Amino acid sequence: MNDEGITIYWPAKEGREEGVFFYGEATEAYLPNSHVRVAGHGDMIMLGSYSYLGLNGDERINKAAQEAVAKYGTGTLGVRLLAGTLDLHRRLEERIARFKGAETAVVSSSGFLANISTICAIVGRSDVVICDKLDHASIVDGCRLCGADVVRFRHNDMLHLERRLEQYQDRKLKLVVVDAVFSMDGDIINLPEVSRLCRKYGALLMVDEAHSIGVLGETGHGIEEHFGLPPDSVDIKMGTFSKAIPSNGGYVATREGIADAIRLNGRGYIYSASLAPASAAAACAALDIIDAEPERVRRLHENMAYFAARLTDFGIDFRNSPTAIFPIMCGDDWSAYRLAHYCHGRGVYVQAIPHPVVPKGSARLRACTDANLLKEELDYCAAVIRDGAHSLGLFNGREKRLDAEAGNGNGNGRQSTPE
Ligand SMILES: Cc1ncc(COP(=O)(O)O)c(C=O)c1O
Repeated sequence: MNDEGITIYWPAKEGREEGVFFYGEATEAYLPNSHVRVAGHGDMIMLGSYSYLGLNGDERINKAAQEAVAKYGTGTLGVRLLAGTLDLHRRLEERIARFKGAETAVVSSSGFLANISTICAIVGRSDVVICDKLDHASIVDGCRLCGADVVRFRHNDMLHLERRLEQYQDRKLKLVVVDAVFSMDGDIINLPEVSRLCRKYGALLMVDEAHSIGVLGETGHGIEEHFGLPPDSVDIKMGTFSKAIPSNGGYVATREGIADAIRLNGRGYIYSASLAPASAAAACAALDIIDAEPERVRRLHENMAYFAARLTDFGIDFRNSPTAIFPIMCGDDWSAYRLAHYCHGRGVYVQAIPHPVVPKGSARLRACTDANLLKEELDYCAAVIRDGAHSLGLFNGREKRLDAEAGNGNGNGRQSTPE
């Protein structure tokens, strides 16, 4: 509890006293090759951002944003339903619908808002929402607000999902909501099975692609491409323009009937100002670049595999994540704070994720790779994490076991999850 009598879950006071509280640090400049200049810390290799395709600062995207400011100004001065719709929003909606293979799309001013507003627009009392236990906070909050019954299934456990669907079979509207890539663990939802079960039980399926658009699939089109599924295997394709796409805003690509409900029922559409012109134009330009330059996605995939191999070589537990998010498992919160602090001292920008963001005892560093990081930098970052863990005595014993497993060789450079 702080001096105002408010409970704060982060141990900010103790962390600041020990000098390990590294949150909300101010970036002063984005430098070439995923380096950043951070106030009070100097130049660092960025291993903690969502810039998966390294597109932030791309001249073509900057130019599109500047032209939008010149034409429309900086604000939209209204909500979408009233005076706040620009032709730019329509263009972006057509563009993202095409990118995701959907009939239409609705964009909003953030991904967080898109999740809350969409869930509340679609379900209400007498309906049910069924969520994966590790879904993002914005899905959890949407569920809290929507008035429907909300039940969870164990993380990525398809038998448990089916049991939930059976249990609520009689509900007229059943909405299943999952993350495509789970933001704290980096693992991928079993979409083929989730989609099959939703069809079998007549449930609508909503998938949050915040960390899969631009990342999964050979050309970065996301989770359906990754699994080779047809575009209609997901009813409500939600995502953000704030990660691989270097802008702001959220979208839902879907069918006309569902989009209409989001426009006419969605409180985020009706009561929150629309996406700023520069953000809309930047997102459009970024989608064009992703389609025109698939080599970026290829480079990202190479870096993901390379970093996974390095961590494996060093016996570091990253829960065998197959995506660009690598949870470096530390155990208790303070081990994670201290390991992150060690990395900062050696110029690696990576952050500790403590409880309650993740379950107690599973605090971690959350490292993210991107397309622009050089192999030498990935080598360096992995070595710094290993050395930090050694010097703090964090992975004692476990390393040996992992070394032995790696020695047995599974052939693909990744170890099984040591749990
Ligand atoms: C899985 C997931 N969904 C939604 C969001 C919210 O997106 P935005 O940052 O565009 O509000 C995030 C943001 O981190 C996320 O990780």
